[in-house]
Amino acid sequence: MASPPSSAPELAAGDRVPVLPLRDVVLFPHVVMPLLVGRPASLAAVDAAGAADKQILLVAQRSADVQEPASADLYRVGVVGRIHQLASLANGATKVLVEGLTRVRVTRYAQAGGTHLRATLAPAPFGDPAATAEARAVVRRVLSLFEEYVSLHRRIPDEVVAMVQGADDETRQAFAVAAHVTVRPEVRQRLLEVPTLAELWAELGELLAAEIELLRLERKIEEDVRGSLVQSQREFYLQEQLKAIHKELGNDDGDDAADLQAAVEAKGLPEPVRVRALREVRKLRRTSPLSPEATVSRNYLDWVLGLPWTERTDDVLDVAHARAVLDADHFGLDDVKDRVLDHIAVMALVGKMSGPVLCLVGPPGVGKTSLGRSVARALGRKFMRVSLGGVRDEAEIRGHRRTYIGSMPGRIVQAMRKAEAVNPVILLDEVDKLGQDYRGDPSAALLEVLDPEQNHAFNDHYLEVDYDLSQVLFVTTANSLAGIPEALRDRMEVIRLAGYLDGEKVAIAERHLIPKQLRLNGLAPDHVSWEPGALQAILRGYTREAGVRELERRLARVARKLARKLAETTPAGLPAAGSLADHAEGPAEGAGSRQADELVVRAADLKSLLGTAPHADDDQRLDDKVGVATGLAYTTVGGETLEIEVSSVAGRGKLQLTGTLGDVMKESAHAAVSYARSRAGALGIDAEFHRVTDLHLHIPAGATPKDGPSAGIAIATAIVSALTGVAVRGDVAMTGEITLRGRVLAIGGLKEKLVAARRAGVSRVIIPAENERELDDVPADVVAALRIHPVSSMDDVLAVALRQPARPDAPGAARAAR
Ligand SMILES: Nc1ncnc2c1ncn2[C@@H]1O[C@H](COP(=O)(O)OP(=O)(O)O)[C@@H](O)[C@H]1O
Ligand SMILES: [Mg+2]
Repeated sequence: MASPPSSAPELAAGDRVPVLPLRDVVLFPHVVMPLLVGRPASLAAVDAAGAADKQILLVAQRSADVQEPASADLYRVGVVGRIHQLASLANGATKVLVEGLTRVRVTRYAQAGGTHLRATLAPAPFGDPAATAEARAVVRRVLSLFEEYVSLHRRIPDEVVAMVQGADDETRQAFAVAAHVTVRPEVRQRLLEVPTLAELWAELGELLAAEIELLRLERKIEEDVRGSLVQSQREFYLQEQLKAIHKELGNDDGDDAADLQAAVEAKGLPEPVRVRALREVRKLRRTSPLSPEATVSRNYLDWVLGLPWTERTDDVLDVAHARAVLDADHFGLDDVKDRVLDHIAVMALVGKMSGPVLCLVGPPGVGKTSLGRSVARALGRKFMRVSLGGVRDEAEIRGHRRTYIGSMPGRIVQAMRKAEAVNPVILLDEVDKLGQDYRGDPSAALLEVLDPEQNHAFNDHYLEVDYDLSQVLFVTTANSLAGIPEALRDRMEVIRLAGYLDGEKVAIAERHLIPKQLRLNGLAPDHVSWEPGALQAILRGYTREAGVRELERRLARVARKLARKLAETTPAGLPAAGSLADHAEGPAEGAGSRQADELVVRAADLKSLLGTAPHADDDQRLDDKVGVATGLAYTTVGGETLEIEVSSVAGRGKLQLTGTLGDVMKESAHAAVSYARSRAGALGIDAEFHRVTDLHLHIPAGATPKDGPSAGIAIATAIVSALTGVAVRGDVAMTGEITLRGRVLAIGGLKEKLVAARRAGVSRVIIPAENERELDDVPADVVAALRIHPVSSMDDVLAVALRQPARPDAPGAARAAR
């Protein structure tokens, strides 16, 4: 497309020239272009032009589809050109080389002899280049844009740039640029119709800038596509190589993904889970087997496949059988077992779980956890224990999202996996020890677990799909109700285990703990005999607890010592078969009977077996003492007796408090002093004692901090005793809140306190009259063994507790000061 210099034709208004309609092409002035002419009208026009000076109008059709364009189908602005060459081709078409000369406007199209169109023209020159610096700057910018455009464009040869820059003048340069920009014909026509040269340059600038943007984008997309193609080809290639290497090494473990897919299909998953799992399989296929993502996917599938979705165990819903199992596992606890059996009976009738979740509440070692296990055994279900002590993070219950490789489902789903069935008994142990902090509230998640309305679609963050917990029997345990969030407590049916009396502990030890510990240590229960009183001595000297945990620990220690003794006395080289009773066989017969004589646990041996007893036998506590009263407390470790000591010395009316006392207990002490002052006369106390006497109240620390108002009457009793010098009966324990005027108010934990009183061996207990009706809940043998005094005033308390009634004329102040 060179542009040989051509002189502009002398064109006058009204000249008529033949019309050569152009399809998809727009010719610009000063541009030479080869054209293929085939349509009859076009050939006629070329012929006519050859006859007349070879000038012809080259004008674009509005639509390339029109075969025989009439005047309305043609634009009104075109270029007059000159035909340089004609060549007839074999197919009847003619190749024409034309050169654009000048822009013209068509005033009229008309038929010429019925063969072709002829146009009447008016000149429409572009005018001369503007001479301003600004115009030149525009030109320079367009030329440099054009250079960039060509460099980005694949089908425009680079020489074009040199050619355009070498053109004679700006006019020719402008048309050369316009001719080379590959844009739609309508756009080219618009360029051709621009009024002046300056405007043409401006148009070209905008057009090129836009086209360059487009080309850049195209380039980028192309590169991206090619880049990703190369990358995936590379990975594919490497994976193939890896497979080949594995095969060569002989550890070709088949197609991982295919195996997993088959496993997913075979597992019988709920539909949404199956879909989710298959999606993960597809993802696994796409990732390199050694990449971290593949590990994440494989772990996930492992979890989905490892969880029970439909597998279940058959329930044994037989109340008689359940009772037998519960009785075999645990001694006593009759009312607890009754409540559990009620639940089982309802399950048998309704066919599913219903009603609130059982919550076993009581001090440590009373058998809450082992009862849960027993319930599972009674129902023929799998048992899982989930310890909630110290769980502060919601994610521990609900799992971590799969954002890192180590993430895992929460404890509930983990337990389900271990259970391998959708209907285990899950014991949520120590719900009262749940924490709560910035990592979310685990109790909220737990609520969802326990709520029958929600737990059929439990949402674990890791699993992402819903998991059905509705078939699980949840049982919870706690040391105290106080630590359980309110919302959770509402969902629970509380069953209290108050703690055991000595007699019960002995029975539990004999029937359960001792046989168990001996067996664990390889000893036959019937080869060890216990001297009467030995067990009692362990209980009193080595344990002080509501449950039997410490007792069991002590018995385990005894069993270990016995096992060692046995090992040392068995002659070397001879198997100690007789001792390993469960599998005692023939030859050791004699040895067995000999050992039965040897292995006797005597009270006198306890010191060598267990060390010095930490608790002195405390019968002496039952002595009458001045200034010492026995209170009853209820703490998280069960009921306890409290020894409250008061001493009075001459001073200035100070009340000193020591021991680990809470604020409420300190207030009780002040209330007790106020009571003593208000009743000083009647009690025979020096009316001025609050000025001339200092009182020192001490409550020995013990293991747990003490608080609460229920020691009020015991404190008051000790104070009155100290001030009057009248001894408090040693066989009396008491509990009750005191008001300033000496009224006695109700307390909590009556059952546990009475059990503790019984355990301590006292024979009388003073309780608030308001609590009297709760006696029905207290084990009957406990109530029967105690003399219980319900009271409503402090005067009543003193009447029972003091050895001799305080006499108004008693020289109390004098004796109190000793
Ligand atoms: N009534 C009972 N009969 C038999 N064994 C008991 C009884 N109460 C507790 N135990 C035993 O005492 C031990 C401690 O019980 P555990 O369930 O751990 O107590 P908790 O969970 O209440 O702290 C266990 O070995 C348990 O079997
Ligand atoms: Mg426990």
